[in-house]
Amino acid sequence: MSKAKENAALAALDMVEHGMTLGLGSGSTAEIFIELLGDKVRGGLDVQGIPTSKASEACAIEFGVPLINPDKVEAIHLTVDGADEVDKDFQLIKGGGACLLREKIIADVSEHMAVIVDPSKMVENLGAFPLPVEVDPFAVGLTAERIYTALKQAGCDEIETTIRLEKRGKGPLVTDGGNYIIDCACKVIPDPRLTASLLASIPGVMEHGLFIDLADTLIIGEEDHAKVMEIVRE
Ligand code: 5RP
Repeated sequence: MSKAKENAALAALDMVEHGMTLGLGSGSTAEIFIELLGDKVRGGLDVQGIPTSKASEACAIEFGVPLINPDKVEAIHLTVDGADEVDKDFQLIKGGGACLLREKIIADVSEHMAVIVDPSKMVENLGAFPLPVEVDPFAVGLTAERIYTALKQAGCDEIETTIRLEKRGKGPLVTDGGNYIIDCACKVIPDPRLTASLLASIPGVMEHGLFIDLADTLIIGEEDHAKVMEIVRE
């Protein structure tokens, strides 16, 4: 377990209070948080979690975190999730683990979102990590063309779109929601907000990996401590 990721997850645990409903993110850092949360639950902490992927659901079950159906809760108090890139305004690229649709559904309704990362995820400009876009498999080629055009319109210079393949190379990766992922390598995304709105307007796009104005706490884990930063959003 990476010490930096563990320290970030431990700092996020300090934000958890008795009685909270928590969005449980996906990926290796979020899974460390879920494991540590399980320890607290065994120690008497009363929380319920909403997993954002089949993998984080399995992790929560393994470590004894009680789960609840998102349709059955009045509020989600805090979501804790990782990220693939984070800029100085806490804008994110997510979806490296192909879970961005459920992650965004839950983050968007959460009262707070804490992002837990190691320092390698911090960037000056978003875009070096290929932006994942989750699309309906129907007419995926047409949708890919529209994504390319939208990225050009948003000021991206070099664009390469690739349908993500499953690891064993047997065909396109299928997300938990039954969709495909188109990874968009742009090097730099000069205007993440415009890019987000143009991508969201394409009918075949289920969701994209730009998380704009969602994170309000950023926790950067280091080898021996974690730095916690807040941003106030209007
Ligand atoms: C999954 C995600 C993850 O949060 C992101 O890929 C970071 O993962 P890790 O903590 O393993 O680096 O967006 O869709």
